[in-house]
Amino acid sequence: MKGRRTALSNRPVWLDDKTKSTMDRAIAREQSLSRLLMTYIVTGVIFMLLPGTFLGVWNLIKISSREAAESISPAWIQAHGHAQLFGWVGTFILGIGFYSIPKLRKLKPFALWEAWMCWGLWTIGVLIRWLSNIYPWHWRVLLPLSAVLELVAFMIFFRAVASHRPAGGTPRPWEPWIFVVIAATMGLLTSLLLNLGACIQLALNASSPAFPHGFDQRYLIVSTWGFLIPMVWGFSSRWLTVFMGLRPLRNSFLLVALGLNTAGVVAGFIEHFVIAAAFLLAGSATAIAAIRFFEPSSKAAKTINVHPSFPVFIRMAYGWLLIAAALSLWASLMNEAPGVWGASRHALTVGLIAAMVFCVGQRVLPSFCGMRVLWSPRLMLLMLILLMAGCTLRVSAEILAYQDYAKWAWDVLPISALIELTAVTLFAINLIATFARAPVVAPSPLTMTTE
Ligand code: HEM
Repeated sequence: MKGRRTALSNRPVWLDDKTKSTMDRAIAREQSLSRLLMTYIVTGVIFMLLPGTFLGVWNLIKISSREAAESISPAWIQAHGHAQLFGWVGTFILGIGFYSIPKLRKLKPFALWEAWMCWGLWTIGVLIRWLSNIYPWHWRVLLPLSAVLELVAFMIFFRAVASHRPAGGTPRPWEPWIFVVIAATMGLLTSLLLNLGACIQLALNASSPAFPHGFDQRYLIVSTWGFLIPMVWGFSSRWLTVFMGLRPLRNSFLLVALGLNTAGVVAGFIEHFVIAAAFLLAGSATAIAAIRFFEPSSKAAKTINVHPSFPVFIRMAYGWLLIAAALSLWASLMNEAPGVWGASRHALTVGLIAAMVFCVGQRVLPSFCGMRVLWSPRLMLLMLILLMAGCTLRVSAEILAYQDYAKWAWDVLPISALIELTAVTLFAINLIATFARAPVVAPSPLTMTTE
């Protein structure tokens, strides 16, 4: 029998050897999982900063100086988009999925080497993709290779978190949010398969590593509305109801929202854009009604260790979701509308997705990554204000400039880009400084939580 102080009490608790060794193993696993998650998050942050945002800012400054949206290489635009969607947000989702899904579903633990292997293949795949878009050296080999690596990494992830191996006891029945996350995972799989098919097609028949415009637009509907949006809804339903003290989830509405959204993605992929946009708008409104963001809360929000304004920014992010869907309806009703499509895309990716990552990420990641506390809640507020301001300027100026409604709006676009760049840089600083801090509590099975 050995004395051990637990995280909840300083008084030694007497444990027999078997219990002690089980606890030691659980603590060691939790520490390994936290290290793994930190590696995924830091990798995602690196993709977000340089290949993603910096390249996006560079592209926008060039477009604005030439006052022509089509004046830069489509391969560079796609390099930026892929780095943001898959290099940043995708890497975060894989890492958080490895850390949280087996715990939330009470599954048997997966082998850690699988998660490290997935990280290696995914990172190399996304990096090669970016490089072969930017500098087309041996791209006919590297482009399909990058797509294969991404797909294999995904399969490893899927096998680890989607298995049916309950850790013992009665398996938990599947709650609706799990169906939404599964739909999002299928959206990711579809995006990766389309990506692989298109990369092989380009390698065999094309003269440049860029997807043709028409296919790219359809592919983006799948990878944004078909993958990221249900992922955001799924994790919002699981976590935000608790964090924001919202009224109980309307489960049936959530499933209806998922159905409408899926119908919208399918319609968009087969180029029925007006019908698609109508479904996506209806799906978004239904998801908001399901999670009850804009109804009075039933409990106080849990904002400990983050800035208390957290619920306000979540509501703003969901406001951007409606704006993005409404803009895509407007764009689909016009003949040629690159500015409105671009504005809709960034309302979705910056207004909703980046804002959700900034809010929820800073709420959950410090504790998942070894029971740490966010370095600066005030910096969190500043970056969220900058992100919202940059996004508002970007979305409005993109419509005015690209659609030829107002010439002065070309001068606003680079300013919006620099404001957004500052916001994402502050997010990176806050997260890295948080990881550099010592944990507030020693890891213990009693403190291992996904809430
Ligand atoms: C500083 C912030 C950002 C800037 C300055 C920026 C800039 C750009 C520019 C100039 C384009 C070309 C099309 C257009 O003019 O609309 C573009 C496209 C795109 N961006 Fe961004 N962006 C930013 C943030 C983001 C974020 C956070 C995401 C995703 C999480 C994202 C995803 C995309 C996607 C998917 C495309 C379309 C790529 C394609 O056509 O294949 N962007 N961005």
